[in-house]
Amino acid sequence: MAILLPGGAGYIGSHTAVELLNSGKDIIIVDNFSNSKPEVLDKIKKITGKDFKFYELDYLDKEKIEKVFEENKIDAVLNFAGFKAVGESVQKPLEYYHNNITGCLILLETMKKYNVKKFIFSSSATVYGEPEKIPITEDCKTGGTTNPYGTSKLFIEQILKDLYKSDNTWDICILRYFNPVGAHESGLIGEEPKGIPNNLMPYIARVAAGTLKELSVFGNDYDTPDGTGVRDYIHVVDLAKGHVCALNKLDKEEKGLFIYNLGTGKGYSVLDMVKAFESATGKKVPYKIAPRRAGDIATCYADPKKAKEELGWEATKTLEDMCKDSWNYIVKNS
Ligand code: UD1
Repeated sequence: MAILLPGGAGYIGSHTAVELLNSGKDIIIVDNFSNSKPEVLDKIKKITGKDFKFYELDYLDKEKIEKVFEENKIDAVLNFAGFKAVGESVQKPLEYYHNNITGCLILLETMKKYNVKKFIFSSSATVYGEPEKIPITEDCKTGGTTNPYGTSKLFIEQILKDLYKSDNTWDICILRYFNPVGAHESGLIGEEPKGIPNNLMPYIARVAAGTLKELSVFGNDYDTPDGTGVRDYIHVVDLAKGHVCALNKLDKEEKGLFIYNLGTGKGYSVLDMVKAFESATGKKVPYKIAPRRAGDIATCYADPKKAKEELGWEATKTLEDMCKDSWNYIVKNS
């Protein structure tokens, strides 16, 4: 029985593929390389010393997806295929809703047809909008997303809840990621944002490398200790391990629809991140204070207790690991 990973060549998918293979699971990756590179597949094999099946296809192609189910015995699906650039989603809402929602529906419909009912969905802390309380627990209200990317995550969560309500033989896990950063310690796989990065860590790394001149700190008048935005940065390898624990839960326990925050429970400001990066790498990160970015909130970090209690998972990597591994990836790949 294999685990199907649509989008498995991407940033979070590739790290999860490594952890699944390391834990002895059989995987199948499906990807169209819309935001990843074919070399990633060999790198996953190099890191793990294990082989796996791969199909180059768009997960919107229902016939081809069905063929994958026809040809293989699939036990569970972990969906990493989705567009994720917040700014681009505002410019291209139809493309984002179509890719993220229709793609997910095609997967679920195909799963239903082939009686595969274990599904893990990559959601985001963005579904909490302006958080009701800090640290954020899974029962906090959701909604108030500020862009189509975030709203697509919210809508898919609703679709999954409705699906489970209609048929409780489904076994579904929604993982709400906080801010994934870092790279595999080998430096072979990591994040490769297209063009100028929007997210903080890849931007800092490129400023340190000299590819970008300086960081713009978006606002220093928030109600936070130093006035800059506070987030819960989580090492991508910790995040990937969270998926293995979630899958183990779906394998063991009674069926259900489960929701977990995947975060560290610690909040760091933009300036904390600049300092941590400088001291972990010895590189300077010049910055200037700029106006707030539309749609940003002051503070967002997780209460990760539920995942610890129910999945036996907790993040173990430090901020220094996150900075060092991000930098190592840049150095090895430029
Ligand atoms: C963003 C998305 C979120 C998505 C996540 C993926 C928004 C509103 N949210 O989260 O939906 O799931 O990325 O990782 O876009 N910052 C700067 N200068 C920069 C870049 C960022 O000061 O050049 C600051 C931001 O204002 C924020 C913090 O750094 O306070 C983190 O920003 P970012 O990495 O973009 O993540 P989020 O905005 O938290």
